[in-house]
Amino acid sequence: MQPSDEIKSKLDIVELIREYVQLKQAGANWRACCPFHREKSPSFMVSAEKQIWHCFGCGKGGDVFSFIQEIEGLSFIEALRLLAPKAGVTLKAMDPKLASKRNRLLDILDLSRRYYHKVLLESPAAASARQYLASRGLSVEALEEWQIGYSPDSWDATFKLIRSKGFTENEIFLAGMIIKGQNRPGFYDRFRGRIMFPINDISGATVAFTARVSPEKEKTEKLGKYINSPQTQIYDKSKILFGLDKAKLEIKKADYAIIVEGQMDAITAHTRGFKNVIASSGTALTADQDIENKAPKDLKDQINLIKRYTNNIMLAFDMDNAGEMAANRGIQEAMGLKMNIKVIEVPQGKDPDECIRQDPRIFAAAIKAAKPMMQYYFDKTLSGLDMGKVEDQRRAVAVLLPIIVKLGDRIEQDYWLKYLSEKIGRDEYILREEVAKIMKKKPLQTSNLNKQLPPTPPQRTQSRSEKLSEHLLALIIKFPVLLEYSIKNIETKQIFGSQKQALYKNLIFYYNNVILSEDGENEANGFNYNDFRNWLLSQDSSHPENTDYFTQGGISNQSPDSDRLVLLSEKEFYDLDQPAAKAEMIKIIIALKKYYLADRKKELMHMIAEAEKNGDGRGAQELMEELKLLNDELAAFDR
Ligand code: UTP
Ligand code: MN
Repeated sequence: MQPSDEIKSKLDIVELIREYVQLKQAGANWRACCPFHREKSPSFMVSAEKQIWHCFGCGKGGDVFSFIQEIEGLSFIEALRLLAPKAGVTLKAMDPKLASKRNRLLDILDLSRRYYHKVLLESPAAASARQYLASRGLSVEALEEWQIGYSPDSWDATFKLIRSKGFTENEIFLAGMIIKGQNRPGFYDRFRGRIMFPINDISGATVAFTARVSPEKEKTEKLGKYINSPQTQIYDKSKILFGLDKAKLEIKKADYAIIVEGQMDAITAHTRGFKNVIASSGTALTADQDIENKAPKDLKDQINLIKRYTNNIMLAFDMDNAGEMAANRGIQEAMGLKMNIKVIEVPQGKDPDECIRQDPRIFAAAIKAAKPMMQYYFDKTLSGLDMGKVEDQRRAVAVLLPIIVKLGDRIEQDYWLKYLSEKIGRDEYILREEVAKIMKKKPLQTSNLNKQLPPTPPQRTQSRSEKLSEHLLALIIKFPVLLEYSIKNIETKQIFGSQKQALYKNLIFYYNNVILSEDGENEANGFNYNDFRNWLLSQDSSHPENTDYFTQGGISNQSPDSDRLVLLSEKEFYDLDQPAAKAEMIKIIIALKKYYLADRKKELMHMIAEAEKNGDGRGAQELMEELKLLNDELAAFDR
C-alpha cells in the first residue's frame, strides 16, 4: 500500500475537517460554510462514507490531502508529512519518492531537533541550561512540547552526528546547520553551547532554529543573545511565525491571535493556558523597516498567514517604542489588509513572559483591556501634547494624519478624522484638505486591500438547464425509487450537458439490462447508486456507452469529482421525504422539457426558413407540423 493510501484508510475525513470547520450533520453527510470562499449559506459538504469533501459554491473538492493542502497552504508532500503522524503511519525517510532535496533538508532539521532535545534532557554538559530553563518556569513537559534542546559546545559534534546518518556536507550546509570556515578549511557547527528552540512551519515540521546564549555566557558572548538559522530552501522567514503550528487551531477558535515578540514569551504564555499566542521573533511584523522594497511583501505574507485563521490580532509588544509601533510598516500593512488590530499594554513595562509568570491574571486583564490600534496610538500621541497650543495641535496632525490616511476602510478613516478634529478643536475641513494633499502625493493603494477569501467562485458557471439536469441526477441518487419515474417521463435528449446526458443514458441502460433482467421484474427497488457505480467502473471503458461521463472527470477512484453528485444530492435534498422528492422531480422534469422545447423550437424555425429558401415545400410542411406539436406541448405545461 502507498503511504498516502494507508494514511487515507486510517484517518476519518470528518474528524479531520472538524478540526478546522464547524460541521453540521446533513443526512448521512456533513455540511458547513466553505472555509475557502465567503458565503452565507453552507455549500461545503463532507461525506463520511466516501471520505471526500466538495464545495458547491467555489467548486473545490477532494480527499483529506487536498483539504489539508488547501487549508494549510501545503504541497502534497507536506500534507503527507503532516497527516502521517496523525494516522500513525511512519514515512520512510529513504522512500525514493520522498527523498526530494527539500525533504532531505527537513530530515536534517528533524534529526538535529531530536539530537539537541536529547542532549538537553540527558547530557551533563547541559545541566546548567536545564537549571536555567527550570528557573524560568519551564517544566519538563513544556521542554517536551516545544522540543527545546541544547547544542553541545563543540565545533563539530552536530556536524559529525548528521554526517553519520548519511547526509552530505553540502546538504548539511544547505540546511543551515554548519558554517564555512573563513580562516581554516572545512565547516563548523553554527550552533554551539546554546539553548535551542525549534522553529516549525505551519504543519509542525522543524525548518529552522533560534538559539539563545546559555546563561553563563550571557555577559561575554559576542554573537548576540539569540542567533537564528539563515534563510534556506526550507526556511523562509516571511512565511513563518513562531508557535503558529501549535496555536493555529486555538486562534481559529478564539478568533484572535496574540502576537508577542520573543519565543520565551510565547512558550510561557502557552504553558499558562494562553494558547492563541505566537511570536514574531523580534523580526516578523516589526522589522525590516529599512529594506524598502522587500519588507512589504514579507509582511503581507506573514499577515496573510494569520489571516487564514482570524482577522483579529492583538499585539503585546515592548511598550517603549509605542509610537514606532503604530508607524510601523507591518502594522500599517495589516490595517490595510482589514485586520483588526488591538494593543495589549502589559503593566509595568514587563515583557509578557515576566508578566505571566508573576500572575497570569494580570495578563488576562491586560488582554481584556486591549485597545484598538488607532485608539492606542491616539492616546499615546496626545498624552504628551497640550491641545491648547497651536504648536502641539500641528504636531498631533503631523503624526496622526498620515496614519489615518493609510486606513483601508473609509468609514474608519472618517471616524478618526472627526475624532482628531475634535481633539485639536479645529474644523474638519482643514484636515480633509490636508488629507487630499497627502493623497495627491501618494495615491492610496486600494488594489491590495481586502485580499481575503474570493467572493466570486472561480467555477465555470453552469446554465440553469444544466444545473437542473444535475439536480435531476442527484435526486435519482438520493431517491433510487424515482429512477423508474424519471426514465418514463424524460428522455436522454432532454437532459442538458454532455456528461450528464451520458450518465443518464448509462442509468437507463443499467436499469433496463441489469436491474430489470436480474430477478425478473424486481422494480426499481433493486437500484442503488453504489451498485450502479461499481457496475459502470467494471465495464470495459472502450465500450462506447461507458466512455463519456465516467472517463471525462467522472467516476474514478482517483477523481472524486463525480461523487460530487452524491454530495449534491445531500446538499440540495437532505431534508426531503419521498413525496416531496417526487414533487421536486416533476418540477424539474417540466422545466427541463420547457428548455428542450424552446431550444428545439428555435432549431425548427431555422430549419423551416432554410427549407423554404431551398424551395422544399414538403420538408417545410413537415417541420411546421412538428413545431405545432411542440407549441401545444409547451402550452400544456403552462396551464
Ligand atoms: P528580547 O531581547 O526582548 O529577548 O528579544 P527575550 O525574548 O526577552 O529573551 P529572554 O527572555 O531574555 O530569553 C525579543 C526577541 O527578539 C529576537 C528573539 O527572537 C527574541 O525572542 N532577538 C533578540 C534576536 O533575534 N536576536 C537578538 O540578539 C535578540
Ligand atoms: Mn524576556
